Amino acid sequence: MNLNVLILPGDGIGPEVTAEAVRVLRAVAAKFGHTVTLHEGLLGGVAIHRTGSPLPEETLQMALNADATLMGAVGLPEFDSAPPDQRPEKGLLGLRKALGVFANLRPVKAFAALLDSSPLKNHLVEGTDMIIVRELTGGIYYGTPRGISGVGAEERAVNTMVYTRPEIERIARMAFHLARGRRRKVTSVDKSNVLENSQLWRRVVTEAAREFPDVELDHLLVDNCAMQLVLNPRRFDVVLTENMFGDILSDEGAVLAGSIGMLPSASIGDRRPSGAWVGLYEPVHGSAPDIAGQNKANPLGAIGSVAAMLEYSFGLKEEAAAVNRAIEAVLASGKVTADLKPPGPPATTSEVGQAVCDAL
Ligand code: IPM
Ligand code: MG
Repeated sequence: MNLNVLILPGDGIGPEVTAEAVRVLRAVAAKFGHTVTLHEGLLGGVAIHRTGSPLPEETLQMALNADATLMGAVGLPEFDSAPPDQRPEKGLLGLRKALGVFANLRPVKAFAALLDSSPLKNHLVEGTDMIIVRELTGGIYYGTPRGISGVGAEERAVNTMVYTRPEIERIARMAFHLARGRRRKVTSVDKSNVLENSQLWRRVVTEAAREFPDVELDHLLVDNCAMQLVLNPRRFDVVLTENMFGDILSDEGAVLAGSIGMLPSASIGDRRPSGAWVGLYEPVHGSAPDIAGQNKANPLGAIGSVAAMLEYSFGLKEEAAAVNRAIEAVLASGKVTADLKPPGPPATTSEVGQAVCDAL
């Protein structure tokens, strides 16, 4: 198979972690007899610097033409006070929307070798294995009207949280489908005691559940879910939630996995005629400008995103499993970056990437 992949390194630690992810992609392709065609594009702050836009038209076209896109991270402190539509993040949000990748899958697993890296007690975290299914192209991130208007005491800011029935139905079905390949339990998270938006969410999810009588459904309010995630994380199998709640809860989930640097994600939308998912693959972590350029960042979230790409966009399950096994082998060897608090001196970003290739 030829794997035609667009790489968008982005900002901060993005280029460092994607370099290692690409190294692993090449290694796994060579091992299994696939070829790789890579293109590289500009997204985020680096794209603003070079072209004036966080999502240049050329990048968008390349993403639409690629079989899959691997993104590093976007965001730079120099844009901290810029309005949302002139920020690096806008490039990523625009790309997600343009690709129509409405389902963001964020697996959160407690790796045995990393139990001591979590600040939580080992007995609470041990055995945690969930997937957060985050709606990615709707909700308050995209709703209109939005903006800041007025001056002085009249100044006001508006955002709109909007979901339509079809948007909720398709993400709910995705969650139920995924649950069938797992422990058959979906927890839908909302704020239906306050928000009409969540009331519709809960009603539509409950209706969709009838198509999946073999999957158990329960509902949690988002504040309670935030607490249950650290009190009793093993209770979760598939966590289904809207865009902003999913953003927040998945960072909390990182504490269970030992470090946010560990978390991969797959953003998928419709299937192509070949049956493959249109996919955007990105580690959950941000651009971490404080450690950028120092060869310190944990590349395993980006490398795990390569595994997700192999599985969802190319249907290469065995290859994906080989990458995930190699990640586990590296974790067990203790050759990991500082965020995972290794017993000995921490490994560099590139040493971890090399170690994954060697384990492969
Ligand atoms: C994430 C990030 C993004 C989001 C930012 C960079 C726009 O936090 O993927 O979790 O909020 O979706
Ligand atoms: Mg986030």
